[in-house]
Amino acid sequence: MNFIPYGKQLLEQEDIDAVVGVLNSDYLTTGPNVKAFEDALSDYCDVNYTIAVANGTAALHLASLVLLSKGDKVLTTPNSFLATSNAILYADAIPIFIDIAKDGNIDLDLCEEVLKKDPSIKALYGVAFSGRMLDQKKLKYLKETYDIMILEDCAHAVGAKDGSIKAASCTNSDVSILSFHPVKHMTTGEGGAITTNSKELYEKMLTLRGHGMVKTPDMKPWEYEMRELGFNYRITDMQCALGLSQLKKLDRFIERRIEIVKAYDNAFKGSIVKPLYTYDGKSSYHLYVVQVDFSKLNITKEDLFNQLREKNIGIQLHYIPINKQPYYRGLGYGNEETPVMDTYYEECFSLPMFPKLSNEEQQYTIKSLFEVLNG
Ligand SMILES: Cc1ncc(COP(=O)(O)O)c(C=O)c1O
Repeated sequence: MNFIPYGKQLLEQEDIDAVVGVLNSDYLTTGPNVKAFEDALSDYCDVNYTIAVANGTAALHLASLVLLSKGDKVLTTPNSFLATSNAILYADAIPIFIDIAKDGNIDLDLCEEVLKKDPSIKALYGVAFSGRMLDQKKLKYLKETYDIMILEDCAHAVGAKDGSIKAASCTNSDVSILSFHPVKHMTTGEGGAITTNSKELYEKMLTLRGHGMVKTPDMKPWEYEMRELGFNYRITDMQCALGLSQLKKLDRFIERRIEIVKAYDNAFKGSIVKPLYTYDGKSSYHLYVVQVDFSKLNITKEDLFNQLREKNIGIQLHYIPINKQPYYRGLGYGNEETPVMDTYYEECFSLPMFPKLSNEEQQYTIKSLFEVLNG
């Protein structure tokens, strides 16, 4: 069996043709594909404005610069990739790590307890972990009741729905971000996007994407003005052409992910392998996370990783609690009360989940997992 990673892109001939088409054209960057990709994403996500950027981290950075000021306190989750809370630090603001709920997302009830006690909290950065959106009713309630800014990190969740509300639609948040890294649902190589319904935030972030530089019709033809300190977070036309081509197939990719979910759910029913959540008709399933109580077994999680690696299966761990990373410990974090996250971290791992995973590879993964767990 060839190596089976936990996630991987699916590129087809028309994706390659789309990129080659741009290579043969006049504009490799700042050309027509960028706006076309942004418009297509706005359509898909049901949102007014989209800015395509170099990667998801750049999206988080720009969003944080417009949402936060120095010293602002921001509730966030320890169960994410480093980029989510790093972006709070980029803006000189202060992350406050809140425990997760049973589905791996930040516990919004705990957030409310903290918001009640501390009216100075400015924002909430949630992550639609593994593809499952934050509870939209609760998010709306928190936004209205506590008057906070909300960012939804939807890097895992493009294509997810909560009723009629789509991921990254910013229905109950100020800004959302997406990532198009190859392990995500659709890819542009590296790439990301920011979505918002606020014209004001959109214009600010657009300016920051391009060095803080402004060019208006009343200026002389050669003139431009730098009005604030921005960045070069542009994405290329090759990437956007790839993104446009991938976006057309996104629903098909998600349908395949759901088939994989159902087969895993079925295989683990009544066993020691507990899915973080089974098929729910909402998640767009970036990850398929399971939990195993290793204290009841003869093997450790490290044994499991190593033995599956020997069988050419690359399971992964999402995530090491961010607040316990050495850098964060150096800032005084790491001793928060997060019992659910602590147990989750002991027990969790992510199984291969990507549209190109064949039925044979999935069955091999399931069989190998049980063989290793049963010693
Ligand atoms: C939840 C989450 N947020 C943000 C990012 C950052 O995205 P990028 O890798 O495109 O910078 C990632 C990437 O893995 C992620 O998983």
